[in-house]
Amino acid sequence: MSAVILISGGAGYIGSHAAYGLKQAGYEPVILDNLSTGNEWAARHGILERGDVGDGALVRGLCEKYQPAAAMHFAAFIEVGESVQNPDKYFDNNRDKAMRFFRTLNECGVNKVVFSSTAAVYGDSGGNAPIEELNPTHPINPYGQSKLEAEAFLRMLDAASMRSVVLRYFNVAGAGPADSLLGEAHFPETHLIPRLILPLIDAPLMLLQGLGLQKGFTIYGNDYPTPDGTAIRDYIHVMDLVDAHIRALDYLLKGGATDIFNLGSNKGFSVQEIVDAVRTSLNKSYYKPGIAPRREGDPAFLVASNAKAGKVLGWSPARPLGAIIGDAVTWHRSPRYIEAMRAKIGKTSGIWL
Ligand SMILES: NC(=O)c1ccc[n+]([C@@H]2O[C@H](COP(=O)([O-])OP(=O)(O)OC[C@H]3O[C@@H](n4cnc5c(N)ncnc54)[C@H](O)[C@@H]3O)[C@@H](O)[C@H]2O)c1
Repeated sequence: MSAVILISGGAGYIGSHAAYGLKQAGYEPVILDNLSTGNEWAARHGILERGDVGDGALVRGLCEKYQPAAAMHFAAFIEVGESVQNPDKYFDNNRDKAMRFFRTLNECGVNKVVFSSTAAVYGDSGGNAPIEELNPTHPINPYGQSKLEAEAFLRMLDAASMRSVVLRYFNVAGAGPADSLLGEAHFPETHLIPRLILPLIDAPLMLLQGLGLQKGFTIYGNDYPTPDGTAIRDYIHVMDLVDAHIRALDYLLKGGATDIFNLGSNKGFSVQEIVDAVRTSLNKSYYKPGIAPRREGDPAFLVASNAKAGKVLGWSPARPLGAIIGDAVTWHRSPRYIEAMRAKIGKTSGIWL
């Protein structure tokens, strides 16, 4: 019988791809999701249990029913800007509910957890060297802080026999293979690659309006101290990320110790390089995005080192930028994506019903 893995947030972008990857790898995914931002259709590769990770009785019941060998925790709110406006929402969900979830799992004897954290825990590292796991952590927004505090609690549970792997990463992009029927469907959508692609692929006007993209894409800052003046960031293909999560799970199931790994690209790409790659991929070399001043708190260089993940987990990203963009374009053009967004935007804003 295959081992059951409990996946919180498995109806969201990354968690749904993780469920797909786990199924392919021979595990039995059980998804716990309250569908606050997720999509029911995205939970297609696991058994969906609707509910909240902070609901101790529910989590206890799921542990008894499915006897999971381990859990992966993706459930969280992810909007940095919103976290600044409404920090309580983030500390409640990303820290307090995560802590309750970890504690309940531990009490139920589910004592192996892979936790989806973020390189936002490092804040602005200042330099232009890839960030390593021993770099100091100085989050500059409540999103990063809430994740860091959840990490610390999980690490504390090590003394109560909980073994965990914390995975810290920045920008995840791309979509699963065709048979997964999965991709990114966030609303609002704040991520660079979908925001850049959508105005260039004749997406429906209502979709562009709903996402605030009717005027196209804007680069924030072209006067950074980088080779082309635009900010440099890390981009990882969602299926490379899933591969890392499965390696982390296997590491824990084989008795690996509690640890933290960055999932980075080591090098990163500038916003201008991403724009160029999308233009080339879509044959739209004439396209010129708007330029606006830098946003406050946006550092010049944010890239994570993958040396430790390579050494201990045998992981490094395998899919190049071209694959990230190509898979995202295919997904954002698909009727499945358009339909999912029509339902979300229609429900929330009353337009495009
Ligand atoms: N997307 C990125 O680029 C990125 C980068 C770094 C880290 N992360 C981390 O990866 C994880 C997943 O991100 P994503 O992009 O898939 O987000 P997402 O919003 O697509 O998915 C989150 C899922 O969690 C569910 N959820 C939220 N709170 C819940 C709760 N209390 N109980 C049950 N379900 C709940 C939502 O309904 C949703 O399905 C997050 O923890 C995020 O911090 C994401």
